[in-house]
Amino acid sequence: MNTIGLDIGTSSVKALLVSPTGEVLKVSSPEYPFETPQPLWAETDPSVWWEATQQAIRSLLENTDPVSIGGVGLTGQMHGMVALNVSGDVLRPCIMWNDQRSFAECEEMTSIIGKDEILRITGNPVLAGFTAPKILWMQKHEPELFAKVDKILLPKDYIRYKLTGEFFTDVSDASGMSLLNVGERKWSHDIINALGWKKEWLPEVSESTEVTSKISAIGSGATGLVEGTPVVAGGGDCAAQAVGSSIVEEGKVSVTLGTSGVVFAQSDEYRVEPEGKLHSFCHAVPGKWHMMGVMLSAAGSFQWFKNKFAVEENRIEQEGGPNAYDNLTAQASEVDPGSEGCIFLPYLSGERTPHPDPHARGAFIGLSLRHGLGHMARSVLEGVSFGLNDSLSLMRGLGINPSNIILTGGGTESSLWKQMLSDVFQSNCALVNAKEGAAYGAALLASVGIGTQQSVESASREWIRETENIMPGNDVVTYDKIYSHYRELYPSLKNHFHSISKILEQGSEN
Ligand code: XUL
Repeated sequence: MNTIGLDIGTSSVKALLVSPTGEVLKVSSPEYPFETPQPLWAETDPSVWWEATQQAIRSLLENTDPVSIGGVGLTGQMHGMVALNVSGDVLRPCIMWNDQRSFAECEEMTSIIGKDEILRITGNPVLAGFTAPKILWMQKHEPELFAKVDKILLPKDYIRYKLTGEFFTDVSDASGMSLLNVGERKWSHDIINALGWKKEWLPEVSESTEVTSKISAIGSGATGLVEGTPVVAGGGDCAAQAVGSSIVEEGKVSVTLGTSGVVFAQSDEYRVEPEGKLHSFCHAVPGKWHMMGVMLSAAGSFQWFKNKFAVEENRIEQEGGPNAYDNLTAQASEVDPGSEGCIFLPYLSGERTPHPDPHARGAFIGLSLRHGLGHMARSVLEGVSFGLNDSLSLMRGLGINPSNIILTGGGTESSLWKQMLSDVFQSNCALVNAKEGAAYGAALLASVGIGTQQSVESASREWIRETENIMPGNDVVTYDKIYSHYRELYPSLKNHFHSISKILEQGSEN
């Protein structure tokens, strides 16, 4: 039977209708904005996702018999905190994955539990962006709302609640809350008790292919899906994206160029990077784990650069001329590798890997009178590639040496960027036929959950194949030299980023 994959993303919901053999039959992707009401904050009202989800599913079901849908798989942006009261009403806008306000609460939680204990149990340090410090932030700053908390859900699990009336999550998404015992794949009662919270606030946690619940009468009325249609647990968007790009076996690695950038490696064992610099999470493949590096502004850096600085290129596009990204990339490709000494640091929203620092900031270093838009555009693409290489280097240090890296995400539409990644990584890279990202992985998980496919591994072999191979070229040596300077820049600037951030905080208090 066909399945639906639903991805509750940062700026859109993506709904896919997928056949039992992995063919994408229909796509619907209504967009929405998120709010940044204060510096470091990022929020969305979950009702915005629910509206867009209903619209997306209804659009998939136009001229499609809902009886042909055998199951639904959910995925979405990770780490967001959706707090509900006892009636199931949302208490405040979701505090999202890219919100960095809770850095003080990260320190507080680490001192309550202990740094080593947190790393041992959850596989990661507590990071601003993860869910638990956001709960602690609400406890401190919004005590009257906190007193009403009855459930804490991740974004996709809020949509599950609206579709089925039930509270469940999956191991991969739950891994990003700082509340899961990642090695044992279950909630850590030690952590929950130490914080004085209630385990009843958290949904039941399942493996990603398990059918957790079924479409309710209300969910059916809202979407047109048949009441009783099975919904599988699904996965966080990184794990689902990896499933949808064949990263389902030990040692396979992918790099995703979305708003955020993700370097993802499957692991059969639970392994923790000794300093917690890489995330260690449960995978959406039952009984497996993964390691991951996350860059907060990857293709998002290039989008920012285009929106803010490519004024002429944007105007030309609006008047029916070439696409502004293509125009900018064409200018970047006329510049030599290394952008004539201009190096971009991509820490526009702070950073996670390898520098977990909400106060880190972007920078262009090495500008001269010769530099123009094309140089700076190229240095943005190069800086993001170097930042992703930082995560890959950490993985190589742990003995993960992929012979081939799968590239996914919107950024891979640029030939310049694909080749640059292969050169900077000094590795063969490949693209796959599956282009629809996490929603495709969620549809695959649903197909396994309802028994149309036998296992995630066999479905992946049947659905996904390589379509393009890229080999490192002549620019490897130049990039290697520039990369060694790139690595030195954050440590040299760190103290300045922190002092400037203090000045700005004091300014906003006066
Ligand atoms: C992963 C992460 C982001 C979001 C965005 O840890 O924070 O990739 O899931 O979708």
